[in-house]
Amino acid sequence: VILTVTLNPALDVTYAVDGLVVGATHRVRTVAERAGGKGVNVARVLHAHGTPVRATGYAGGDTGTRITAQLAGCGIPAAFLPIAGESRRTVTVTDGGVATGFWEPGPTVSPAEWLAFLDHYGDQLPGAAAVVLAGSLPPGVPADAYAVLVALAQERGVPAVLDADGAALRCGVAAEPLLAKPNAAELSAATGLPVSTVDEARTAARALRGGRPTSVVASLGGAGVVAATAHGDLRAFLPEPVVGNATGAGDACVAALVRGLLAGAPWPEVLARAVAGGAAAAAAPVAGMVDEDLMGRLRKDVVVEEI
Ligand SMILES: Nc1ncnc2c1ncn2[C@@H]1O[C@H](COP(=O)(O)OP(=O)(O)OP(=O)(O)O)[C@@H](O)[C@H]1O
Ligand SMILES: [Mg+2]
Repeated sequence: VILTVTLNPALDVTYAVDGLVVGATHRVRTVAERAGGKGVNVARVLHAHGTPVRATGYAGGDTGTRITAQLAGCGIPAAFLPIAGESRRTVTVTDGGVATGFWEPGPTVSPAEWLAFLDHYGDQLPGAAAVVLAGSLPPGVPADAYAVLVALAQERGVPAVLDADGAALRCGVAAEPLLAKPNAAELSAATGLPVSTVDEARTAARALRGGRPTSVVASLGGAGVVAATAHGDLRAFLPEPVVGNATGAGDACVAALVRGLLAGAPWPEVLARAVAGGAAAAAAPVAGMVDEDLMGRLRKDVVVEEI
């Protein structure tokens, strides 16, 4: 199985309204609820494609219960560690395709809860083919949390894939995961380098790698991906970006990267599938869902080149 770790999962609530006005009262037409957070989203895509997964992380309070119940309802195996704080909700108000978000801060994790997670995580590692560590760290978890989790996995022969931001990304990469997947803003923040062109993305991805065995795949939205690997640097992109909702494209991209790497596909194929997966998610009416037929069609149009 692929283990996904989401330390700060969310119950994603979407309200659909007509004519959002600040200061007004709105009748909500529909309310949709879904378990979310980056690792959960990666698990959802992998599960939809028939890859065995288990989602873990922290879940607290009534919201934590709803998150785990929602995953159970989707048939996604989950083993979240209960904590005292209340898991967060994210509320998105959509009005004719325009989305406005409200992100709750989420619970603070106690030192004892962090130590308990290390045990819980250690129990999940045997039998895992890979671990995906994704999303923000909740308050209270140490800044080097991902470095610790990467090291624990890889000491036991379980390759780790990291999708994180800021200090969590920098510290995590120092532990030499198999792969890190920052987007342009995350790569720029982690390296202090500009990332607005493919050339700059390559330079920054190489800087973040810093000669480690870790591969850095920088995702550049509609411009595809730039990869810095021990075997050279590559770029993969669709000649025509898709029009749609990019929310969750990164998570679909990570899911495709993990699947491709575990299948032993060569880098050009791994990256082509990652670009097609992200683009299929961007084209999907429901954020982050990936239609495999569409992904297959888009895959044929992806251009891969050495850079
Ligand atoms: N409009 C688009 N057209 C084609 N491909 C896209 C588009 N948007 C995203 N993708 C594909 O999906 C990948 C990931 O998207 P992006 O770089 O936006 O990730 P992200 O910022 O991490 O997203 P997330 O919000 O899910 O964290 C891109 O590298 C690209 O291959
Ligand atoms: Mg992302």
